[in-house]
Amino acid sequence: MEMIYLVMPGKISDSFAEVVKIATENYQLTVIKTIQNFPVDLQNKKIVFAVELDECGFNIPLFEIFLKLKERGDDSLLGSRAVIIIRSSSELFTKSSAQKIIFLTNQMGCRFPGHPVVEATCNLNNFLTWQKTYNLSLVEIYQKQAKELVKKLFEENLKIINRPKMLVLHSSFFKTSNTLTLWKMVKENLNGEDIRELHVENGTVVDCRGCSYKTCIHYSEEKSCFYGGIMVKEIFPAIEKADCIIWLCPNYNDAISAKLMAVINRMTVLYKRVKFGNKTIFSIVVSGNSGSDCVVKQLIGALNINKGFRLPPYFALTAIANDPGFVKGIPGIDKRVKKFAEDIRREIKK
Ligand SMILES: Cc1cc2nc3c(=O)[nH]c(=O)nc-3n(C[C@H](O)[C@H](O)[C@H](O)COP(=O)(O)O)c2cc1C
Repeated sequence: MEMIYLVMPGKISDSFAEVVKIATENYQLTVIKTIQNFPVDLQNKKIVFAVELDECGFNIPLFEIFLKLKERGDDSLLGSRAVIIIRSSSELFTKSSAQKIIFLTNQMGCRFPGHPVVEATCNLNNFLTWQKTYNLSLVEIYQKQAKELVKKLFEENLKIINRPKMLVLHSSFFKTSNTLTLWKMVKENLNGEDIRELHVENGTVVDCRGCSYKTCIHYSEEKSCFYGGIMVKEIFPAIEKADCIIWLCPNYNDAISAKLMAVINRMTVLYKRVKFGNKTIFSIVVSGNSGSDCVVKQLIGALNINKGFRLPPYFALTAIANDPGFVKGIPGIDKRVKKFAEDIRREIKK
């Protein structure tokens, strides 16, 4: 029987315990509830984070566990693959908490499959749209999705891709951008990959129009989109071909820049036709002052949780640099760049 490490800290309601029981019933379990019953080694494991959030959106024992893992080093989850079942006592916090859990554990080496989260808000209203697909009650959909999610942990047979196709998306200028300079440094440490860089120019990509589901499906089948343009002619085909996409994101008001966000929003039409689970994402995020984690969590939310791209260990390289070129002189940056390039080379798999 396959072994799952079930991290389920804090106060757990009967209804949440029941869903987790159904989701994990075919597996052998090692249950971790506090740092007291914490196994020494959580590397190379299959992990389910089953998290019930309090009224303020916290689960304090879970973050004590993360602190303990952090003390063990940034490779304390290396080789492990995880998914998350998360329940809130309100309509809020499931997504932001899932993003944070993924962000923290990914920095300790944990990888995530595409769509790695099943959320449940207080009255399960987040499953209402699924009732258009399944003739089931909300709680049955919740149980079904949680069960399928846990199964996903074992549906992986990753192999390194020989000469992978890498697509690098950015909207900055080489002359001034620290984010692009950092990418250039990473690129110097890569060789043999088939790298294509696409610059999303100002004004060339308008944001998603938000067509009806039916209209979007129609455009998707036509390999098109309401607005057409560079998105349809160049960016969609490039994303479709790529084994790996690297997102170069300067921090703009603690968020992804509007131009790149428009690309992500417009990918909705492509997502209806192409599954992204075999494609790997990486990112480089530079902030002038602080807040790179906000941008990285946004990427996790949009691309891993929502759009279903595979998240490899250490998927984000972050730095603080404001004046043009400053990033080159950050102490220790060469070592971090080299490691990031190695992670890229090692992790473009399907
Ligand atoms: C529109 C805009 C908004 C920005 N907002 C932030 C911010 O919220 N926080 C921050 O630390 N830096 C912010 N910055 C600074 C950039 O993150 C900084 O210049 C960094 O070097 C990355 O951008 P670059 O690749 O263009 O150099 C902002 C810059 C611009 C142009």
